[in-house]
Amino acid sequence: MKFDYLFRNVTVIDGSGGPQYRADVAVQGDRIAQIAPAIDAQAEHDIDGSGKVLAPGFIDVHTHDDINVIRMPEYLPKISQGITTVIVGNCGISAAMATIKNDVPDPMNLLGEAEHFKYPTVDAYAHAVEQACPAVNVGTLIGHTALRNNQMDDLFRPANHDEIQAMRQQLRLALEQGALGLSTGLAYASAFQSTTEEVMALAEELAAGKGIYTTHLRSEFEPILDALDEAFRIGRHGKVPVVVSHHKCAGASNWGRTVETLKLFDKVRQQQDVSCDCYPYSASSSTLDMKQITADFDIIITWSTPHPEVAGQTLKQIADGWSMTLEEAGAKLMPAGAIYYNMDERDVRRVLSYPLTMIGSDGLPNDPMPHPRLWGAFPRVLGHYSRDEQLFPLTVAVHKMTGMSAARFQLADRGLVKCGYYADLVLFDPQTVRDVASFSDPQRPAAGIEAVMVNGVMSYGQNNKVIGRAGRFLRHQAQ
Ligand code: ZN
Ligand code: CU
Repeated sequence: MKFDYLFRNVTVIDGSGGPQYRADVAVQGDRIAQIAPAIDAQAEHDIDGSGKVLAPGFIDVHTHDDINVIRMPEYLPKISQGITTVIVGNCGISAAMATIKNDVPDPMNLLGEAEHFKYPTVDAYAHAVEQACPAVNVGTLIGHTALRNNQMDDLFRPANHDEIQAMRQQLRLALEQGALGLSTGLAYASAFQSTTEEVMALAEELAAGKGIYTTHLRSEFEPILDALDEAFRIGRHGKVPVVVSHHKCAGASNWGRTVETLKLFDKVRQQQDVSCDCYPYSASSSTLDMKQITADFDIIITWSTPHPEVAGQTLKQIADGWSMTLEEAGAKLMPAGAIYYNMDERDVRRVLSYPLTMIGSDGLPNDPMPHPRLWGAFPRVLGHYSRDEQLFPLTVAVHKMTGMSAARFQLADRGLVKCGYYADLVLFDPQTVRDVASFSDPQRPAAGIEAVMVNGVMSYGQNNKVIGRAGRFLRHQAQ
Protein backbone atom coordinates (compact mmCIF):
# COMPACT_ATOMS: atom_id res chain seq x y z
CA MET A 1 0.00 0.00 0.00
CA LYS A 2 1.32 3.39 -0.98
CA PHE A 3 -0.41 6.41 0.56
CA ASP A 4 -0.69 9.81 -1.05
CA TYR A 5 0.56 11.62 2.04
CA LEU A 6 2.14 10.56 5.30
CA PHE A 7 2.51 13.01 8.16
CA ARG A 8 5.13 11.42 10.41
CA ASN A 9 5.76 12.01 14.12
CA VAL A 10 3.08 14.65 14.48
CA THR A 11 1.34 15.73 17.66
CA VAL A 12 -2.31 15.12 16.83
CA ILE A 13 -4.86 17.50 18.33
CA ASP A 14 -7.90 15.78 16.94
CA GLY A 15 -10.54 18.49 17.39
CA SER A 16 -12.66 16.55 19.89
CA GLY A 17 -11.27 18.49 22.84
CA GLY A 18 -9.57 15.30 24.12
CA PRO A 19 -5.86 14.98 24.91
CA GLN A 20 -3.19 15.32 22.25
CA TYR A 21 -1.05 12.33 21.20
CA ARG A 22 1.91 11.44 18.98
CA ALA A 23 1.16 9.55 15.76
CA ASP A 24 1.67 9.09 12.04
CA VAL A 25 -1.30 10.08 9.90
CA ALA A 26 -1.83 8.79 6.35
CA VAL A 27 -4.01 10.33 3.66
CA GLN A 28 -5.38 8.51 0.65
CA GLY A 29 -7.52 10.34 -1.90
CA ASP A 30 -9.66 12.90 -0.08
CA ARG A 31 -9.80 10.99 3.22
CA ILE A 32 -7.73 10.24 6.30
CA ALA A 33 -6.75 6.61 5.73
CA GLN A 34 -4.83 5.57 8.83
CA ILE A 35 -3.72 6.91 12.21
CA ALA A 36 -1.19 4.86 14.18
CA PRO A 37 1.85 5.29 16.46
CA ALA A 38 4.09 4.28 13.53
CA ILE A 39 2.87 3.54 10.01
CA ASP A 40 5.17 1.18 8.16
CA ALA A 41 4.32 2.15 4.61
CA GLN A 42 5.42 4.36 1.78
CA ALA A 43 3.81 7.52 0.54
CA GLU A 44 3.98 9.75 -2.49
CA HIS A 45 4.71 12.63 -0.12
CA ASP A 46 6.41 11.98 3.19
CA ILE A 47 6.23 14.90 5.62
CA ASP A 48 8.22 15.01 8.84
CA GLY A 49 6.02 16.71 11.41
CA SER A 50 8.29 16.44 14.44
CA GLY A 51 7.47 19.19 16.91
CA LYS A 52 4.42 20.21 14.89
CA VAL A 53 0.72 19.88 15.61
CA LEU A 54 -1.60 18.22 13.10
CA ALA A 55 -5.17 19.41 13.62
CA PRO A 56 -8.40 19.34 11.62
CA GLY A 57 -8.62 22.26 9.20
CA PHE A 58 -10.24 25.19 10.95
CA ILE A 59 -13.89 26.02 10.32
CA ASP A 60 -14.70 29.73 10.20
CA VAL A 61 -18.33 29.67 11.28
CA HIS A 62 -18.92 33.38 10.87
CA THR A 63 -17.95 34.95 7.56
CA HIS A 64 -19.07 37.32 4.88
CA ASP A 65 -17.01 35.59 2.19
CA ASP A 66 -20.06 34.71 0.04
CA ILE A 67 -18.94 36.48 -3.12
CA ASN A 68 -15.21 36.71 -2.48
CA VAL A 69 -14.66 32.95 -2.47
CA ILE A 70 -15.96 33.01 -6.04
CA ARG A 71 -14.23 36.19 -7.21
CA MET A 72 -10.83 35.47 -5.60
CA PRO A 73 -10.80 31.68 -5.23
CA GLU A 74 -7.26 31.41 -3.83
CA TYR A 75 -8.68 33.03 -0.75
CA LEU A 76 -5.37 33.66 0.94
CA PRO A 77 -6.79 35.56 3.96
CA LYS A 78 -8.46 32.36 5.16
CA ILE A 79 -6.35 29.45 3.89
CA SER A 80 -3.25 31.16 5.33
CA GLN A 81 -4.80 30.88 8.81
CA GLY A 82 -5.35 27.14 8.45
CA ILE A 83 -9.04 27.62 7.66
CA THR A 84 -10.40 24.91 5.35
CA THR A 85 -14.14 25.67 5.56
CA VAL A 86 -16.05 28.95 5.69
CA ILE A 87 -19.70 29.36 6.59
CA VAL A 88 -21.16 32.26 4.62
CA GLY A 89 -24.52 34.00 4.75
CA ASN A 90 -24.28 35.38 8.28
CA CYS A 91 -25.88 38.44 9.88
CA GLY A 92 -29.01 38.26 7.72
CA ILE A 93 -27.12 38.74 4.47
CA SER A 94 -26.36 36.06 1.91
CA ALA A 95 -25.48 36.04 -1.76
CA ALA A 96 -27.27 32.71 -2.13
CA MET A 97 -30.99 33.22 -2.78
CA ALA A 98 -30.60 37.00 -3.17
CA THR A 99 -31.88 39.00 -6.12
CA ILE A 100 -31.09 42.70 -6.22
CA LYS A 101 -33.51 45.00 -8.01
CA ASN A 102 -32.07 48.46 -7.40
CA ASP A 103 -29.42 49.53 -4.90
CA VAL A 104 -27.80 46.98 -2.60
CA PRO A 105 -29.24 47.75 0.85
CA ASP A 106 -27.02 48.17 3.90
CA PRO A 107 -25.49 45.86 5.14
CA MET A 108 -25.75 43.59 2.07
CA ASN A 109 -23.29 46.03 0.51
CA LEU A 110 -20.63 44.39 2.72
CA LEU A 111 -20.75 41.41 0.36
CA GLY A 112 -20.36 43.18 -2.97
CA GLU A 113 -21.99 45.38 -5.55
CA ALA A 114 -25.27 44.86 -7.40
CA GLU A 115 -23.69 43.07 -10.37
CA HIS A 116 -22.09 40.48 -8.03
CA PHE A 117 -25.45 39.25 -6.76
CA LYS A 118 -26.43 36.65 -9.35
CA TYR A 119 -27.40 33.57 -7.36
CA PRO A 120 -31.21 33.46 -7.03
CA THR A 121 -31.10 29.91 -5.65
CA VAL A 122 -28.76 27.84 -3.50
CA ASP A 123 -28.19 25.61 -6.52
CA ALA A 124 -27.04 28.62 -8.56
CA TYR A 125 -24.70 29.66 -5.76
CA ALA A 126 -23.37 26.11 -5.27
CA HIS A 127 -22.75 25.82 -8.99
CA ALA A 128 -20.77 29.07 -9.00
CA VAL A 129 -18.67 27.88 -6.04
CA GLU A 130 -17.97 24.58 -7.75
CA GLN A 131 -17.01 26.37 -10.99
CA ALA A 132 -14.68 28.76 -9.13
CA CYS A 133 -13.15 25.92 -7.12
CA PRO A 134 -11.95 28.00 -4.16
CA ALA A 135 -9.17 26.90 -1.82
CA VAL A 136 -11.68 26.43 1.02
CA ASN A 137 -14.96 24.54 1.42
CA VAL A 138 -18.08 26.70 1.56
CA GLY A 139 -21.40 26.16 3.34
CA THR A 140 -24.15 28.76 3.33
CA LEU A 141 -26.85 30.09 5.57
CA ILE A 142 -29.76 32.06 4.09
CA GLY A 143 -30.03 35.67 5.14
CA HIS A 144 -33.35 36.96 6.46
CA THR A 145 -32.54 40.44 5.14
CA ALA A 146 -31.80 38.97 1.72
CA LEU A 147 -35.22 37.25 1.73
CA ARG A 148 -36.89 40.48 2.86
CA ASN A 149 -35.17 42.37 0.08
CA ASN A 150 -36.39 39.79 -2.43
CA GLN A 151 -40.00 40.09 -1.33
CA MET A 152 -40.52 43.60 0.01
CA ASP A 153 -40.58 47.04 -1.60
CA ASP A 154 -39.70 48.71 1.71
CA LEU A 155 -37.38 47.15 4.32
CA PHE A 156 -38.22 49.67 7.01
CA ARG A 157 -41.50 48.06 8.06
CA PRO A 158 -42.66 44.60 9.22
CA ALA A 159 -43.38 42.05 6.49
CA ASN A 160 -47.06 41.36 5.80
CA HIS A 161 -48.68 37.92 5.63
CA ASP A 162 -48.11 37.38 1.91
CA GLU A 163 -44.50 38.49 2.13
CA ILE A 164 -43.84 36.12 5.02
CA GLN A 165 -45.40 33.27 3.04
CA ALA A 166 -43.18 34.09 0.07
CA MET A 167 -40.07 34.21 2.27
CA ARG A 168 -41.00 30.87 3.83
CA GLN A 169 -41.32 29.31 0.42
CA GLN A 170 -37.89 30.59 -0.60
CA LEU A 171 -36.33 29.38 2.64
CA ARG A 172 -37.91 25.95 2.22
CA LEU A 173 -36.47 25.67 -1.27
CA ALA A 174 -33.06 26.82 -0.03
CA LEU A 175 -33.03 24.18 2.70
CA GLU A 176 -34.02 21.51 0.18
CA GLN A 177 -31.03 22.59 -1.89
CA GLY A 178 -28.64 22.22 1.03
CA ALA A 179 -28.58 25.53 2.92
CA LEU A 180 -27.44 25.04 6.53
CA GLY A 181 -30.01 27.34 8.12
CA LEU A 182 -31.25 30.90 8.50
CA SER A 183 -29.36 33.96 9.72
CA THR A 184 -30.77 37.29 10.88
CA GLY A 185 -29.26 40.73 11.36
CA LEU A 186 -32.01 42.27 13.47
CA ALA A 187 -29.87 45.18 14.70
CA TYR A 188 -29.56 46.60 11.21
CA ALA A 189 -32.20 49.09 10.10
CA SER A 190 -33.02 46.86 7.10
CA ALA A 191 -34.31 44.14 9.46
CA PHE A 192 -35.00 46.00 12.70
CA GLN A 193 -38.66 46.58 11.90
CA SER A 194 -39.35 42.88 11.48
CA THR A 195 -41.35 41.42 14.35
CA THR A 196 -40.31 38.41 16.40
CA GLU A 197 -43.32 36.64 14.87
CA GLU A 198 -41.96 37.26 11.38
CA VAL A 199 -38.73 35.46 12.28
CA MET A 200 -40.64 32.74 14.18
CA ALA A 201 -42.66 31.98 11.07
CA LEU A 202 -39.43 31.46 9.14
CA ALA A 203 -37.98 29.36 11.95
CA GLU A 204 -40.86 26.92 11.49
CA GLU A 205 -39.34 26.02 8.13
CA LEU A 206 -36.03 25.25 9.82
CA ALA A 207 -37.40 22.46 11.97
CA ALA A 208 -38.59 20.53 8.92
CA GLY A 209 -35.34 21.16 7.06
CA LYS A 210 -33.17 20.48 10.15
CA GLY A 211 -31.52 23.87 9.75
CA ILE A 212 -30.06 26.08 12.46
CA TYR A 213 -30.79 29.65 13.42
CA THR A 214 -27.91 32.13 13.73
CA THR A 215 -28.48 35.71 14.74
CA HIS A 216 -26.80 39.07 14.96
CA LEU A 217 -28.98 40.09 17.89
CA ARG A 218 -31.45 42.96 17.76
CA SER A 219 -29.14 44.74 20.18
CA GLU A 220 -25.64 44.20 21.55
CA PHE A 221 -26.00 47.33 23.70
CA GLU A 222 -28.12 47.93 26.83
CA PRO A 223 -31.13 45.80 25.76
CA ILE A 224 -28.92 42.74 25.17
CA LEU A 225 -30.74 40.47 27.65
CA ASP A 226 -34.04 41.15 25.89
CA ALA A 227 -32.35 40.52 22.57
CA LEU A 228 -31.03 37.17 23.81
CA ASP A 229 -34.49 36.29 25.10
CA GLU A 230 -35.91 36.99 21.68
CA ALA A 231 -33.30 34.78 19.97
CA PHE A 232 -33.91 31.90 22.38
CA ARG A 233 -37.69 32.25 22.00
CA ILE A 234 -37.34 31.96 18.24
CA GLY A 235 -35.22 28.84 18.70
CA ARG A 236 -37.79 27.27 21.05
CA HIS A 237 -40.62 28.11 18.71
CA GLY A 238 -38.89 26.50 15.74
CA LYS A 239 -37.37 23.73 17.90
CA VAL A 240 -34.00 24.52 16.36
CA PRO A 241 -30.49 25.20 17.67
CA VAL A 242 -29.59 28.89 18.13
CA VAL A 243 -26.14 30.37 17.48
CA VAL A 244 -25.67 33.92 18.77
CA SER A 245 -23.28 35.59 16.34
CA HIS A 246 -20.14 37.46 17.48
CA HIS A 247 -21.37 37.59 21.05
CA LYS A 248 -20.30 40.79 22.79
CA CYS A 249 -21.47 43.56 25.08
CA ALA A 250 -20.98 46.69 23.01
CA GLY A 251 -20.86 50.27 24.25
CA ALA A 252 -18.94 51.67 27.21
CA SER A 253 -21.93 51.62 29.58
CA ASN A 254 -22.47 47.94 28.76
CA TRP A 255 -18.97 46.72 29.60
CA GLY A 256 -18.73 43.84 32.05
CA ARG A 257 -22.19 42.52 31.33
CA THR A 258 -21.09 39.24 29.72
CA VAL A 259 -21.28 38.00 33.30
CA GLU A 260 -25.05 38.41 32.97
CA THR A 261 -25.38 37.21 29.40
CA LEU A 262 -23.38 34.02 29.98
CA LYS A 263 -25.40 33.34 33.11
CA LEU A 264 -28.48 33.48 30.90
CA PHE A 265 -26.84 31.07 28.43
CA ASP A 266 -26.13 28.72 31.34
CA LYS A 267 -29.76 28.78 32.42
CA VAL A 268 -31.24 28.41 28.95
CA ARG A 269 -28.88 25.65 27.83
CA GLN A 270 -30.57 23.31 30.32
CA GLN A 271 -33.71 23.39 28.16
CA GLN A 272 -32.62 24.14 24.62
CA ASP A 273 -29.70 23.98 22.23
CA VAL A 274 -27.83 27.31 22.31
CA SER A 275 -24.29 28.43 21.56
CA CYS A 276 -22.38 31.40 20.19
CA ASP A 277 -19.41 32.46 18.14
CA CYS A 278 -16.81 35.10 18.87
CA TYR A 279 -13.78 36.80 17.29
CA PRO A 280 -10.70 37.42 19.46
CA TYR A 281 -10.52 41.23 19.44
CA SER A 282 -12.06 44.00 21.52
CA ALA A 283 -12.94 46.11 18.48
CA SER A 284 -15.84 45.40 16.14
CA SER A 285 -16.30 46.31 12.48
CA SER A 286 -19.21 46.83 10.10
CA THR A 287 -20.78 49.53 8.01
CA LEU A 288 -20.73 52.99 9.60
CA ASP A 289 -23.88 53.33 11.71
CA MET A 290 -24.92 56.83 12.75
CA LYS A 291 -26.49 55.37 15.91
CA GLN A 292 -23.10 54.02 17.03
CA ILE A 293 -21.19 57.29 16.68
CA THR A 294 -19.81 58.32 20.07
CA ALA A 295 -16.86 60.12 21.65
CA ASP A 296 -16.51 57.30 24.23
CA PHE A 297 -13.98 55.33 22.14
CA ASP A 298 -12.06 55.50 18.85
CA ILE A 299 -13.85 54.79 15.57
CA ILE A 300 -11.66 54.13 12.51
CA ILE A 301 -13.12 54.65 9.05
CA THR A 302 -12.26 51.63 6.85
CA TRP A 303 -13.91 52.86 3.63
CA SER A 304 -16.15 55.65 2.40
CA THR A 305 -17.74 55.86 -1.02
CA PRO A 306 -17.64 59.68 -1.30
CA HIS A 307 -14.29 60.03 0.55
CA PRO A 308 -12.08 56.99 -0.07
CA GLU A 309 -9.00 59.09 0.81
CA VAL A 310 -9.79 59.05 4.56
CA ALA A 311 -9.70 55.24 4.96
CA GLY A 312 -7.53 54.38 7.96
CA GLN A 313 -8.14 57.64 9.86
CA THR A 314 -10.22 57.97 13.00
CA LEU A 315 -13.59 59.67 12.75
CA LYS A 316 -12.27 62.23 15.26
CA GLN A 317 -9.30 63.10 13.01
CA ILE A 318 -11.58 63.42 10.00
CA ALA A 319 -14.10 65.57 11.89
CA ASP A 320 -11.34 67.81 13.24
CA GLY A 321 -9.86 68.18 9.76
CA TRP A 322 -13.23 69.23 8.39
CA SER A 323 -14.05 71.38 11.47
CA MET A 324 -17.23 69.40 12.02
CA THR A 325 -18.91 67.37 14.77
CA LEU A 326 -18.48 63.58 14.71
CA GLU A 327 -22.09 63.25 13.54
CA GLU A 328 -21.67 65.77 10.71
CA ALA A 329 -18.49 64.05 9.52
CA GLY A 330 -20.18 60.64 9.76
CA ALA A 331 -23.09 61.82 7.62
CA LYS A 332 -20.69 63.23 5.02
CA LEU A 333 -18.81 59.90 4.80
CA MET A 334 -21.87 57.73 4.13
CA PRO A 335 -21.99 55.07 2.90
CA ALA A 336 -18.92 53.97 4.80
CA GLY A 337 -17.36 51.24 6.93
CA ALA A 338 -15.87 51.48 10.42
CA ILE A 339 -13.96 49.77 13.20
CA TYR A 340 -15.37 50.52 16.66
CA TYR A 341 -13.28 50.04 19.81
CA ASN A 342 -16.49 49.25 21.63
CA MET A 343 -15.68 46.22 23.81
CA ASP A 344 -13.99 45.47 27.11
CA GLU A 345 -11.09 42.99 26.92
CA ARG A 346 -12.40 41.15 29.98
CA ASP A 347 -15.71 40.51 28.20
CA VAL A 348 -13.85 39.20 25.16
CA ARG A 349 -11.90 36.75 27.33
CA ARG A 350 -15.00 35.64 29.19
CA VAL A 351 -16.86 34.88 25.97
CA LEU A 352 -13.87 33.20 24.29
CA SER A 353 -13.40 30.86 27.25
CA TYR A 354 -17.07 30.01 27.59
CA PRO A 355 -17.54 26.29 26.82
CA LEU A 356 -20.23 26.87 24.16
CA THR A 357 -18.23 29.44 22.17
CA MET A 358 -16.91 28.70 18.67
CA ILE A 359 -14.43 30.86 16.80
CA GLY A 360 -15.67 32.87 13.83
CA SER A 361 -13.70 35.67 12.19
CA ASP A 362 -16.52 37.96 10.96
CA GLY A 363 -13.83 39.28 8.58
CA LEU A 364 -14.88 41.80 5.94
CA PRO A 365 -12.98 40.89 2.78
CA ASN A 366 -13.93 43.94 0.71
CA ASP A 367 -12.61 46.59 3.09
CA PRO A 368 -9.49 48.37 1.82
CA MET A 369 -8.29 48.66 5.46
CA PRO A 370 -9.97 45.59 6.95
CA HIS A 371 -10.22 44.75 10.63
CA PRO A 372 -7.26 42.37 11.24
CA ARG A 373 -9.64 39.54 12.18
CA LEU A 374 -9.95 38.84 8.42
CA TRP A 375 -6.34 37.55 8.34
CA GLY A 376 -5.61 36.86 11.99
CA ALA A 377 -8.56 35.59 14.03
CA PHE A 378 -7.66 31.89 14.24
CA PRO A 379 -3.89 32.13 14.82
CA ARG A 380 -4.59 34.85 17.39
CA VAL A 381 -6.65 32.40 19.43
CA LEU A 382 -3.92 29.74 19.15
CA GLY A 383 -0.92 31.99 19.73
CA HIS A 384 -1.98 34.99 21.74
CA TYR A 385 -4.88 33.70 23.82
CA SER A 386 -4.01 30.02 24.25
CA ARG A 387 -0.19 29.86 24.29
CA ASP A 388 0.83 33.33 25.51
CA GLU A 389 -2.07 34.30 27.77
CA GLN A 390 -2.95 30.71 28.76
CA LEU A 391 -6.66 31.45 28.55
CA PHE A 392 -7.31 27.77 27.73
CA PRO A 393 -5.28 24.76 26.55
CA LEU A 394 -4.47 24.33 22.87
CA THR A 395 -6.75 21.28 22.69
CA VAL A 396 -9.66 23.49 23.75
CA ALA A 397 -8.70 26.24 21.29
CA VAL A 398 -8.64 23.72 18.43
CA HIS A 399 -11.95 22.17 19.54
CA LYS A 400 -13.61 25.61 19.38
CA MET A 401 -12.56 25.95 15.74
CA THR A 402 -13.10 22.38 14.50
CA GLY A 403 -15.02 19.58 16.20
CA MET A 404 -17.48 21.82 18.01
CA SER A 405 -18.15 23.84 14.87
CA ALA A 406 -18.63 20.83 12.56
CA ALA A 407 -21.09 19.26 15.01
CA ARG A 408 -22.99 22.49 15.41
CA PHE A 409 -23.30 23.15 11.65
CA GLN A 410 -23.75 19.44 10.85
CA LEU A 411 -20.81 19.20 8.47
CA ALA A 412 -20.58 15.47 7.86
CA ASP A 413 -17.19 13.78 8.30
CA ARG A 414 -15.31 16.99 9.01
CA GLY A 415 -13.89 18.73 12.05
CA LEU A 416 -11.92 15.80 13.48
CA VAL A 417 -8.67 14.00 12.76
CA LYS A 418 -10.33 10.62 12.47
CA CYS A 419 -9.99 7.65 10.16
CA GLY A 420 -12.43 7.94 7.25
CA TYR A 421 -12.96 11.67 7.72
CA TYR A 422 -12.14 14.15 4.97
CA ALA A 423 -8.49 15.11 4.91
CA ASP A 424 -9.02 18.76 5.83
CA LEU A 425 -5.85 19.24 7.88
CA VAL A 426 -3.54 21.92 9.16
CA LEU A 427 0.06 21.42 10.28
CA PHE A 428 1.26 24.23 12.53
CA ASP A 429 4.11 25.04 14.87
CA PRO A 430 2.68 25.54 18.37
CA GLN A 431 5.75 27.57 19.39
CA THR A 432 5.55 30.14 16.61
CA VAL A 433 1.92 30.26 15.47
CA ARG A 434 0.63 33.81 15.77
CA ASP A 435 -1.42 36.49 14.05
CA VAL A 436 0.73 38.98 12.16
CA ALA A 437 -2.11 41.17 10.86
CA SER A 438 -2.56 44.30 12.98
CA PHE A 439 -4.91 47.26 12.89
CA SER A 440 -2.25 49.38 11.18
CA ASP A 441 -1.06 46.61 8.82
CA PRO A 442 -4.02 44.26 8.52
CA GLN A 443 -3.39 42.23 5.36
CA ARG A 444 -0.63 39.94 6.57
CA PRO A 445 -0.62 36.14 6.60
CA ALA A 446 -0.17 34.42 9.94
CA ALA A 447 3.12 32.93 11.14
CA GLY A 448 3.57 29.27 12.02
CA ILE A 449 0.99 27.76 9.66
CA GLU A 450 3.18 25.25 7.82
CA ALA A 451 0.82 23.30 5.60
CA VAL A 452 -2.91 23.26 4.90
CA MET A 453 -4.67 20.38 3.17
CA VAL A 454 -8.23 20.53 1.83
CA ASN A 455 -10.01 17.34 0.73
CA GLY A 456 -6.66 15.58 0.51
CA VAL A 457 -5.09 18.25 -1.71
CA MET A 458 -2.10 20.21 -0.37
CA SER A 459 -3.36 23.77 -0.67
CA TYR A 460 -1.07 26.11 1.24
CA GLY A 461 2.50 25.83 2.35
CA GLN A 462 5.92 27.36 2.22
CA ASN A 463 6.36 31.01 1.18
CA ASN A 464 2.75 31.82 2.05
CA LYS A 465 1.60 30.62 -1.36
CA VAL A 466 -1.67 28.95 -2.35
CA ILE A 467 -0.65 25.75 -4.11
CA GLY A 468 -3.97 23.95 -4.47
CA ARG A 469 -7.68 24.70 -4.76
CA ALA A 470 -9.89 21.80 -3.77
CA GLY A 471 -12.73 23.41 -1.82
CA ARG A 472 -16.24 22.05 -2.26
CA PHE A 473 -19.72 23.34 -1.68
CA LEU A 474 -20.99 21.68 1.49
CA ARG A 475 -24.67 20.86 1.40
CA HIS A 476 -26.61 20.15 4.54
CA GLN A 477 -26.06 16.47 5.27
CA ALA A 478 -29.72 15.67 5.91
CA GLN A 479 -30.51 16.37 2.26
ZN1 ZN B 1 -23.09 40.70 12.49
CU1 CU C 1 -21.22 39.23 10.64
